[in-house]
Amino acid sequence: MLAKPNISFKKAKLLSKGMETPFLVLSKKKIEENYTRLSLALENKVSLFYAVKANPISEVIEIIKNIGGGFEVSSADELRLVMNFNVPLNKIFYSTPVKKRSEISYFYKEGINLFVFDNDTEIEKIAQCAPKSQVMLRIQTKNKNSLIDLSLKFGAEPKEALYLLEKARNMGLYPRGICFHVGSQCLSPESYKEAIKLCHSIFEAAAERGIHLDLLNIGGGFPIGYRKKVPDITTFCKTINEALKYYFYGRFDVDVVAEPGRFICADAFTLVTRVIGKSIRNNKIWYYIDDGLYGSFSGRIYDKGDYLILTEKDGYKVPSVLAGPTCDSFDVIYEDYELPDLKIDDLILVPGMGAYTIVSASNFNGFKRAKVVVID
Ligand SMILES: Cc1ncc(COP(=O)(O)O)c(C=O)c1O
Repeated sequence: MLAKPNISFKKAKLLSKGMETPFLVLSKKKIEENYTRLSLALENKVSLFYAVKANPISEVIEIIKNIGGGFEVSSADELRLVMNFNVPLNKIFYSTPVKKRSEISYFYKEGINLFVFDNDTEIEKIAQCAPKSQVMLRIQTKNKNSLIDLSLKFGAEPKEALYLLEKARNMGLYPRGICFHVGSQCLSPESYKEAIKLCHSIFEAAAERGIHLDLLNIGGGFPIGYRKKVPDITTFCKTINEALKYYFYGRFDVDVVAEPGRFICADAFTLVTRVIGKSIRNNKIWYYIDDGLYGSFSGRIYDKGDYLILTEKDGYKVPSVLAGPTCDSFDVIYEDYELPDLKIDDLILVPGMGAYTIVSASNFNGFKRAKVVVID
């Protein structure tokens, strides 16, 4: 499966008559469809909490809320954002393992009483700022099949799990379960299977010590096809369902949740950008476009994003440089992208631009972030 553009060149041209490029075209239907597809692929047994960090724009929050989804938030600002949409507290999951005291107190004051931790000192902070709260332990799992490793910074070593859960209980907190993240853009469901097996052994060992866990959070990581195909989500989730069946359902009285970000929003957005300059430098064709690394293509840096660049032109393609509009020489999106001969003002469509793109864009050099246009 590859992300497809959600708008034709013909429509993009029409839209660009009334609005300056660059802009991002959002298909609200696609957000809904992605949420439903993932939910079905997980046999409607896993509650989904959309990871707001992937794309926090209001339209996305509103759709997820309207279809009954939950939200994974990482900061006080993300909490305020979803609370502005009157999302009930039981639909909000606060996932950050290492937090400022002031943030713990703020969430507690707002009525959140489930916190994630992955080390000793965090237990002490939670016990002090949110006494008697429930807690989940984030563990480190192998991220070798993922583009973005999310176990480098957070996650307790599995061998410390029992000690940490017992310490939390001794400090007056209520251990509820285990979280993990297999890494973002995970290309093999085997990573989930291994992690689920590991969680099963922690659930069993904890039960022997009288700690009965009842919540499992399998994180995000569900992949989408940018330039390389990824398995269809139903096929991908089969292995996860089998592992949950074997290690959890029927063995523990457990609720399972997931925190998908990318899968929900990435291919619901298509970027429309335009060639604004062309030159030959060192025998190579350079195309300058009106969005770049400081804008929607910030995902090239922070998300290791490798996007499909679509043009309307056929014909012989040559390795070309694609650069953003700012004065910084660093603002080069691709150094060797095979492109046909393009002219000034030609439009370019980039599908799959919804996750970890505008959220990390800036207005550097006075070039504004791409606006969002909703089409359906
Ligand atoms: C704690 C947590 N949950 C969920 C996500 C979303 O992951 P993805 O976009 O890969 O689904 C992330 C991504 O960084 C994360 O850190």
